Amino acid sequence: MCHFSSPEYAGKKREIMPLADYERIASLLFKKSLQLVLGCSAEPTLHPQLPRMVEIAKRLHKVPFVGIATNAQLLTESLAEKLLEAGLDEFTVSMHGVEKETYERLQPPASYEKLHRALAVLTDLAAKSDRSFKVRINYTVNPSNQAQLVDFFQHFGQYKIDLLQVRKIFDLGNTVYQDRDLAPFLQSLSRTRAVLQENCHARKTTLLCPPFESETGKGTPASAILLPLVLRYASPEIVWKRDFPWRTESYEAYCKRTGWRRSVLAMARRKSSDLVREIENGERSLGYDVD
Ligand SMILES: C[S@@+](CC[C@H](N)C(=O)[O-])C[C@H]1O[C@@H](n2cnc3c(N)ncnc32)[C@H](O)[C@@H]1O
Repeated sequence: MCHFSSPEYAGKKREIMPLADYERIASLLFKKSLQLVLGCSAEPTLHPQLPRMVEIAKRLHKVPFVGIATNAQLLTESLAEKLLEAGLDEFTVSMHGVEKETYERLQPPASYEKLHRALAVLTDLAAKSDRSFKVRINYTVNPSNQAQLVDFFQHFGQYKIDLLQVRKIFDLGNTVYQDRDLAPFLQSLSRTRAVLQENCHARKTTLLCPPFESETGKGTPASAILLPLVLRYASPEIVWKRDFPWRTESYEAYCKRTGWRRSVLAMARRKSSDLVREIENGERSLGYDVD
């Protein structure tokens, strides 16, 4: 469903962020960060120094909340223990199907058994470790996996799951999976949401699931303002903005030189309709709209 399946992306050389680059980014941004999520558009467990990266954020820069977003295929007990030791607060595990066939078809070449094993490892660690941490599931709903979502806890109810995050599929461009029309399923999805609310309430799991009828992902005036204010995306190529020469300039100097504060004030004075149009046409983060 995501950019990794597009032919252009698949042809690109995969880069591993050098630790020195990460340390530079950390020194620029982490003292201001409330939350860091590693691996939002790549697979963090492929990075050989992931535990060290968590440690740098948590122990050196004191980022209050550090998580990873992972498909959990390489999440062994030993890696999970190292991450917890380094101070990790949350594992977000992506899974887009509660049945084996759907899960493996939507996330090739992932294995359903490995997913179960990883969730079992986290559940066991929570019971025996004295470090508290959260497990969040990220389930992106599409026409192929929407019907089985109602059975989520029948298949995965035995595991530690602190948050269940459900969202509708977005149009991310030239992806292999293109079926995004959920309109025929809105009524049954609304019933599914009610069942999940009951299940989650009973087991004290937080449910993040906007009503399926809402135009989630379209952008609201508030999200148009808040996202650019609070989100700082960093990859091996770009840190926050394309024209930020982050290797040589400090964050503060860049903000000053480019009049960032003035542009924030100007944003607050913009008309809501302009903001909505802008976020619709612009870059989209995989976040939720803010109501
Ligand atoms: C691109 S993945 C990469 C991070 C990591 N490898 C993982 O598996 O979580 C990050 C999240 O994007 C979400 N995602 C992928 N394609 C999507 C789409 N078309 N619409 C909405 N979310 C999508 C998935 O749910 C996944 O949890």
